Amino acid sequence: MMFDSQMLPAGFTFETGFGAFKEKYNQLKRPEDEPFDFLQRIADILLADFGGKEDGDLLRYLIHAFYVAGTTQDILIHEDRSKDDLKIGVATAFLHDIGYLLIRDRFQNIFDDFQKKEIRKAHMAAGAEYALKIMAEPPLSAMFAPAERERAAGIIAVHDLPSTAQDDGRKGLPLDLADGLLYAHREADRLWMTEEYGFGDDLRRLQKKKEGTTPKDLLDHVLKRYREEKTLYPDDGGFKGDMLFRTDRGYGILLEQQDKLMAKYAIEP
Ligand SMILES: [Fe+2]
Ligand SMILES: [Fe+2]
Repeated sequence: MMFDSQMLPAGFTFETGFGAFKEKYNQLKRPEDEPFDFLQRIADILLADFGGKEDGDLLRYLIHAFYVAGTTQDILIHEDRSKDDLKIGVATAFLHDIGYLLIRDRFQNIFDDFQKKEIRKAHMAAGAEYALKIMAEPPLSAMFAPAERERAAGIIAVHDLPSTAQDDGRKGLPLDLADGLLYAHREADRLWMTEEYGFGDDLRRLQKKKEGTTPKDLLDHVLKRYREEKTLYPDDGGFKGDMLFRTDRGYGILLEQQDKLMAKYAIEP
């Protein structure tokens, strides 16, 4: 992830983005899964707590949030997780980076500097606290039991540790591999870097910083980051393609997205 200033995809509004998110959720959902309602409630809360449908930062955030929530749902269904895990996983993904908006007044250039370690740490802490708060109030308190709220906040509190430089200079900290919900979240979040819009956004930002950066340069760089992140973990043979992906579906989505990018930008293998 994530967004720079105010660049939205052509024609993107809250309604079009949210509508597409809802349609995809309903297409993927199994008969036993929660209806879309809980996501509608979360969206209502975000619109009320931030700048509403015209808040450019909120819209930028939501493009990412819709993608990560939808991809998490896709992975968890393929992993045959329970309906409660799915509800928690999707709600968590929807809220996971809201911390950036909560701290936007405390830092300059929050959207250009999101990789800085202070901002990474602050967005995890602020997001976890916010998720816990809104889930403890109606209407979400009726949809999430106390243990489920803690689970969601716990994932948000650590979700970016592998990308957060440590004070002693180490690159980042691994997540709990045994926690399938946390790990599915991480895969979905990282897949944003090869999603068409996420990739295009990073490309624009990079080209501003360093003229002449090509799509192939960025794709090579992202694949390298996927490989490097794997090295944070003990290798138990569960990683696919020598990258951080451990679920078949997460890895499958990567291959699909990579093909799309190579076609779109005419990148040679
Ligand atoms: Fe994050
Ligand atoms: Fe994210």
